[in-house]
Amino acid sequence: MSLPKAELHLHIEGTLEPELAFELATRNGVELPYADTEALRKAYRFEDLQSFLNLYYELMAVLRTERDFEDLANAYLARAAAQGVRHAEIFFDPQAHLARGVGMGTVVEGLWRALGSSEDNHGVSTQLILCFLRDESADSAMATLEAAKPYLDRIVGIGLDSAEVGHPPVKFREVYEAAAALGLRRVAHAGEEGPPAYITEALDVLGVERIDHGLRCMEDEELVARLVRERIPLTLCPLSNVRLRTVDVLADHPLPAMLDAGLLCTVNSDDPAYFGGYAGDNFDAVGQTLGLSEDRLRELACNSFLASFLEHDEERRAR
Ligand code: ADE
Ligand code: ZN
Repeated sequence: MSLPKAELHLHIEGTLEPELAFELATRNGVELPYADTEALRKAYRFEDLQSFLNLYYELMAVLRTERDFEDLANAYLARAAAQGVRHAEIFFDPQAHLARGVGMGTVVEGLWRALGSSEDNHGVSTQLILCFLRDESADSAMATLEAAKPYLDRIVGIGLDSAEVGHPPVKFREVYEAAAALGLRRVAHAGEEGPPAYITEALDVLGVERIDHGLRCMEDEELVARLVRERIPLTLCPLSNVRLRTVDVLADHPLPAMLDAGLLCTVNSDDPAYFGGYAGDNFDAVGQTLGLSEDRLRELACNSFLASFLEHDEERRAR
C-alpha cells in the first residue's frame, strides 16, 4: 500500500544500505571491518540506541565526497518515492562529518545535488534539517551553526539527535535561540529513551514545533493533554522503536493508544537501512500488526502533511 505521505523523521546517514556502504568504501579506499554485506547485516542487532549509534557513526567513514552524499540521497529518494513519499524533511548530522575532516560545504552541496532536482527526478519535494549531536558540547553545536551560515538558503531548520539520556534539551538553549533569530524552524528528538520531562523542556526551553519520537509522553497524562491541546506533532518511528528496544514487540507499540488520546501522530522511518523498512514499510507494519483501519492510516498520512513545514499551496501540490 502506498498512500501519499510526507516523511518527517529521516536521518540521511541512516539510509546507507550495506551495498552502497561497500561501494563507497571501495571508491574511497576505506577499509570496513566486515567481510561483506552479509557480515555487516549481521551486525544490525541492537541492544539500545547507543549500540546502534556506534555502528551508524562507524559506517559514516565511507562518506567523503560531494558525490558520495549525492549518491546516498538519490538512493534514499528513489526508495522513498516508490513507497509513496511525496515530501521529505531530511536530517543530517554535520558534526559527525566535520570531525572526520569532511567540510560542511561537501555535505550540504553534495546532498543538494540530489535534493535540488528531486522533484523532477523522483517526484519528491525536500527540505533539509541540520541536527546537532546532543552528546557533543553546546559550544560545538554553536560552532556548527556558524559553519552552516553560508548554506542557510538550503536549510529549513535545526534538530537535536544522538544519545539522549544525560543530555537534556536545556543544554542547547543558546544555540536554539540563535537559530530562531536566523529564522530557522526548530525540532528535537525527545522522549525516545529520555524521560517525558525532556519533551516538556524541548517545548518550553527550545521552542520546538515538533517532537521527534515523543513516545514516552504516554507516561505523563498532563503532558499528553498538553500535546493534544497545542496540536504538537510527534514524529513516531515504529520499526525503529522495536529495533532499538524502546518497545518489546511491534504489537505492544502505543501508537493506537496515542491516536485514541488525540495526539497528532505521524509515522516515519528514522534510519531505514538499519531498522528494516522505509516509510511505506512502517505504514504497512503498523497497519498489519496493530490492526489500524484504512481510515486511521489515512489520518496518519494526512497528519504527515499537516505536521510538515510545507506551505499550504505546496502541500496541495504534493498530494
Ligand atoms: N541518530 C540517528 N538515529 C537516531 C535516533 N533514532 N535517535 C537519536 N539519534 C539518532
Ligand atoms: Zn531519529
